[in-house]
Amino acid sequence: MSSVGQPVRRADGKLKVTGAALYTADIPLADTLHGAIVHSVIASGRTASIDTSAAEKAPGVAAVFTYRNMPRMNPTPKPWSLLHPYGQGYLPLQDDQIHYAGQPVALVVADTADQAAYAGTLVKIEYETSPPVVFDSNSAKGAFDPPQFLWPVSSSVGDPEKGIAEGAVKIEAVYTTADRHHNQMEPHATLSTWDESDQLTIFDSTQHISGTRELVSIVMGVPHEKITVVSRFVGGGFGGKADVWPHTLMAAVAARVLRRPVRIQLTRAQMYSMVGYGPATIQTIALAADKSGKLTGIRHDSISPTSTFDNYIEYAANVSRSLWGASGGISTGHKIVHVNHNTPTAMRSPHEAHGHFAVESAMDELAYKIGVDPVALRLLNDTPVDPYTGRPFSTRGVRRCLIEGAQRFGWNKRYPEPRSMRDGRDLIGQGVAVAMYTHWRWSAKARVVLRHDGSAVVESGMHELGGGTYTVMQQVAADALGLPPGSVEVRLGDTRLPASHAAVGSATMANAGASVLLAANALRDKAVALAVTGRGAPFAGASVQDVRAANGGLVLGSRTVGYADLLAMSGLDGLTGEGDYQPVEEARGPKSIFSFAAVFAEVRVDEELGLVRLNRFVGAYDAGRIINPRTARSQAIGGIIWGLGQALLEKSETDPNLGRFLHRNYSGYLVPTNADIPELDVIFAGEFDSEASPLGAKGLGELTVVSVAPAITNAIYHATGKRIRDLPVAVENVMRS
Ligand code: MOS
Repeated sequence: MSSVGQPVRRADGKLKVTGAALYTADIPLADTLHGAIVHSVIASGRTASIDTSAAEKAPGVAAVFTYRNMPRMNPTPKPWSLLHPYGQGYLPLQDDQIHYAGQPVALVVADTADQAAYAGTLVKIEYETSPPVVFDSNSAKGAFDPPQFLWPVSSSVGDPEKGIAEGAVKIEAVYTTADRHHNQMEPHATLSTWDESDQLTIFDSTQHISGTRELVSIVMGVPHEKITVVSRFVGGGFGGKADVWPHTLMAAVAARVLRRPVRIQLTRAQMYSMVGYGPATIQTIALAADKSGKLTGIRHDSISPTSTFDNYIEYAANVSRSLWGASGGISTGHKIVHVNHNTPTAMRSPHEAHGHFAVESAMDELAYKIGVDPVALRLLNDTPVDPYTGRPFSTRGVRRCLIEGAQRFGWNKRYPEPRSMRDGRDLIGQGVAVAMYTHWRWSAKARVVLRHDGSAVVESGMHELGGGTYTVMQQVAADALGLPPGSVEVRLGDTRLPASHAAVGSATMANAGASVLLAANALRDKAVALAVTGRGAPFAGASVQDVRAANGGLVLGSRTVGYADLLAMSGLDGLTGEGDYQPVEEARGPKSIFSFAAVFAEVRVDEELGLVRLNRFVGAYDAGRIINPRTARSQAIGGIIWGLGQALLEKSETDPNLGRFLHRNYSGYLVPTNADIPELDVIFAGEFDSEASPLGAKGLGELTVVSVAPAITNAIYHATGKRIRDLPVAVENVMRS
């Protein structure tokens, strides 16, 4: 029986729940020193003086580094690339400038973490302060066109302004989303150790071991073959661990100076400044349609903040390039503003989760203005061709997700008028939104080894962030080899293994998974060749096409030879298959590839208190073939909860005078908890997409976040008649005035 498609349980579940899985900060290494970061309390200016004398004399202290004695680093390479992914281009402890609150100004290294933290409190710093720039509607007026970062910064297809002008019905509005932080359960940690031959090993809570190796190699001027990066388990990444942040560089440099292992674990508070965050957006959308609701033009522009030294772009308007067709044309654009915060970064469903809030809210506004059902409006504007590139979509499950999702939700029982549904004192509202998510294609390598006992090992520099990589790769290799998944061991998270790609963009299943499939198929073909023509061939004389992998070995007609026996007969200890997946870049392929969803939310609103509760939620997803419905469902419920956080709770407030993020722990920064979450209903409505991956899979994880927020705010409109255009939803905007 094939295991792909089955709800196989987590291969690493027991390790995790028993605490046997070692996360970076758990890794014991003899003689380790501990680093504590002293960070700036001002957001802009310079350090006028730093007195480290008391800290240096404190118990257990081995060294105190400031910009005065920190070894110089090489600049990060420009332009930014995923191959050498710096989180920020401004490197730690290299000069006296202060660009953001929470910037490292000293690193204390001591025998224990407590000694380092205590000595850090003894470092005396005087600052010269200048007024910080913060992101708001005022500073946004100075937004400028940034250099291209991931995709072209702006786009125009057709004549969108003419299309908008000629439309019978128009919507134009501004939508905003908030700065947010990743808040992973596992704080970032790093542990660097140099051996006698100057080989550097970095244990790091990273989503990208090979990128970490390249960036450290460049910044430290160490050949990359002298660097090993290990990351076997990550306790939540969400993009916040996809790049190399200053603490990783600081630990590696300090360990080189001190000739001892150095470990740094960020404090919870430092996770709001030592690493990136998801930046706010101010988006303007103009939509126009004919009287039936068919779109005639779309214009979508977005402004987002970045640091004073980097040009990160939140590509919120990208979605409008490809989501809906518009007869006249579509234009999109992005601008950025330099502010005194650390550099923003991708945060779970970056770009899409911001952009869909605007466009899928605007579509809802259009539906009410025309008097068309919101589901029907979307069906009407579905497009088989990507308006941006003119290519057909490989697969596009929008229609199926809308129809099957609506049926599951009971959309036909909805009264269309706002304020028309009630339950006791609560107003009830139902909203819908469609989502799409970028399909990333990256090359990846993997190796699968058959062992003498007939079991197999998958080896690849992939990552496990909680999504289930160990499990799904087991399934893929098991099916190719005809083994039960339990007979496949998976080893990942080490740059000494065949190189894979970053665990970002929800791309691991389709890309890294493809490399495992190729490796396992290559291994199976080698085994078949042995069985047919090798030494003591059990199937001598047979044709290779008649041999298949099943039952823990190879099968020819009614005969089975187990892998252990086959290896023994052949006089081999093991057998290896290599996989090298080299997909054509998405933009150069014949098809436009995205995953899709339609999501339905029911809210109850207490107008007296301005409280919104999610009552029910149905998500219908087209992520191609689903490899493991159990881990896929877990991704979806995690994504919906994440989206609820974006809609109702999450916001990193900045003090406008001090330029600091105000909330720096879980009590001030609100995230959804169990009591916020009702039953979540998840259905998969995709098909095998051979263009997306040999496995037929498209990206799922981040897709499930996208459009949760507009589904909820559209439901709030249906409940109350109040249109929410700013996230997170503020109580005062919902309360009866
Ligand atoms: Mo994700 S923000 O691509 O790790």
